[in-house]
Amino acid sequence: MKPLEGRLAVVTGASRGIGLAASEALAAEGAVVVRLARSLAPGARGPFRDVPCDLADPAAIVRATTTILGEWGTPEIVVQNAGTFTLKPLDATDPAELDASYALNVRAPFLVAQALLPAMRAAGRGIHVTIGSTCDHVALPENGAYTVGKYGVRALHEVLSAEYRGTGVRFSLISPGATDTPLWDPLDPDHRPGFPRRAEMLRAGDVAEAVRFVATRPPHANVDWLRLSPVRRLGTP
Ligand SMILES: NC(=O)c1ccc[n+]([C@@H]2O[C@H](COP(=O)([O-])OP(=O)(O)OC[C@H]3O[C@@H](n4cnc5c(N)ncnc54)[C@H](OP(=O)(O)O)[C@@H]3O)[C@@H](O)[C@H]2O)c1
Repeated sequence: MKPLEGRLAVVTGASRGIGLAASEALAAEGAVVVRLARSLAPGARGPFRDVPCDLADPAAIVRATTTILGEWGTPEIVVQNAGTFTLKPLDATDPAELDASYALNVRAPFLVAQALLPAMRAAGRGIHVTIGSTCDHVALPENGAYTVGKYGVRALHEVLSAEYRGTGVRFSLISPGATDTPLWDPLDPDHRPGFPRRAEMLRAGDVAEAVRFVATRPPHANVDWLRLSPVRRLGTP
């Protein structure tokens, strides 16, 4: 029997990149995975249950989480992955970009946690995984909007860990460095001084493997924080 056979997982931002790879990794271990993202068509596909949802819209989060709990029950694994990256110096960042970044990177995981964790607490088990970033603990230039959000989700992870201590629900923060996903397409890091080349970045599958690892620990063991970085060779930017 596979380690996650019969378990229900929820992954946000699961239409591409890290979220898609994490969904596939959990499904390969036997989980049924509810995937949330704006561009997914609704329906069941093999081990996947796809629910289109704009996580920047609080009412859409209520609708999606009500569907999850009503149709498939209490999840045992929740991966809060959806995120958006803003690369701009402070004085070029429009307040609307800050708000949009906050809505997806901070408010959405807060509201998803608010909607799903009480049922997990009542069940006395489950694991809540936050996909942070190197930027949840390191300050980099031109990352103001993104970094305040990622420090924010690390804070949320820590608050939830404290608030749910003793309930049987576990909390893991995974903080990847640069990962070669469609997130980088508009930024062209291969031609941007000081940035890692895409070929040197982590792969989405590396982060998915970290998700698989934390999600398959036995109930008495918790991975509080897993930091994952690409290895950069001397002489590369
Ligand atoms: N790539 C990196 O270098 C890197 C490094 C560290 C941490 N991370 C973090 O890893 C996570 C995933 O990043 P990624 O690189 O896989 O990004 P990505 O390739 O751009 O994928 C982002 C995912 O989020 C979904 N999404 C975006 N806006 C959404 C919205 N309003 N509502 C619902 N879903 C939304 C997208 O689906 P739709 O467009 O279909 O909605 C997509 O599935 C993010 O939290 C990011 O901060 C990434």
